[in-house]
Amino acid sequence: MATASNDLVSEILELKRERNAVILAHNYQTADIQELADFVGDSLGLSYKAAETDADVIAFCGVHFMGETAKIVSPSKTVVIPDMDAGCSLSDSCPADKLEEYLAAHAEKNYFVIAYINCSAGVKALADVICTSGNAVKIVESVPPGRNILFVPDQNLGAWVMEKTGRSMDLWRGNCYVHVEFTRDSIGRIRTEYPDAKVVAHPECTHAVRLLADEVCSTEKMVAYCRDNPAREFIIVTESGMLHRLRREVPDKIFIPGPTDLCSCGDCRYMKLNTLEKLRDCLATLNPEIQIPEGVRVTAERSVRRMLEISR
Ligand code: 13P
Ligand code: SF4
Repeated sequence: MATASNDLVSEILELKRERNAVILAHNYQTADIQELADFVGDSLGLSYKAAETDADVIAFCGVHFMGETAKIVSPSKTVVIPDMDAGCSLSDSCPADKLEEYLAAHAEKNYFVIAYINCSAGVKALADVICTSGNAVKIVESVPPGRNILFVPDQNLGAWVMEKTGRSMDLWRGNCYVHVEFTRDSIGRIRTEYPDAKVVAHPECTHAVRLLADEVCSTEKMVAYCRDNPAREFIIVTESGMLHRLRREVPDKIFIPGPTDLCSCGDCRYMKLNTLEKLRDCLATLNPEIQIPEGVRVTAERSVRRMLEISR
């Protein structure tokens, strides 16, 4: 007899067919969502998929700014997300009106603004170019020499890119509440427990944690690194959903979640708001739907397209 969960999966696949929808999922989604998505990836890969799809509906299993990015590059599609409350602490740390005020107050700097993709459409519209953790180095290197750069909203990713490129930038003081919970002590302890394991950390982690890492990279690059590296064990210092993606794609290796000082879960409370039931409901009702005022969308599209062109 079919289980409730099997029924739910069948219902979602049937709705997907009826709606001519594509299901895109970020690497931080739960295993059940990753298993039935058409594509699972990082923010960069998902942006390309959203821009290239010929589906009528994009069901985006991630957080709000990711759904917005899909709508920015695919305005004729209906973009739905399972839960409108799936926000992002990092995106919230840089509201568009505050950035606008800051730019006006520092007009003499004539900033070239690079916005990490974890931001609202309003912030994207104020930026010259967008970047993700997967292409931030390349994007920063493409900025004309001599320009003052303002990097928003993640100060940890910004500091990491400065180390990699040698280019100085002014950093917005935002961060991701999940990644700053990993500490030098918590990662140092697990490293002692698994002395042969390689430590792989996301660049949103603090400097102290990045110093303990063998590799710092985007979630997508973690898959290739762990597959190609001869080591058998890896301590993964990012959101917990990544462990499922890695275990699925690199089944012969051992993945250990990087613990925080508070718990060993590493869950993003926003990413984890999405469930199969909510995915079914958003496909059935086409609600909640991402809407962006057209003026903001068009201006934001310029900076997103610039990123997509540079990182091809
Ligand atoms: P990636 O682009 O590396 O998947 O990161 C997205 C994110 O939200 C990190 O917290
Ligand atoms: Fe935002 Fe952090 Fe969650 Fe990524 S893990 S969506 S940066 S709060």
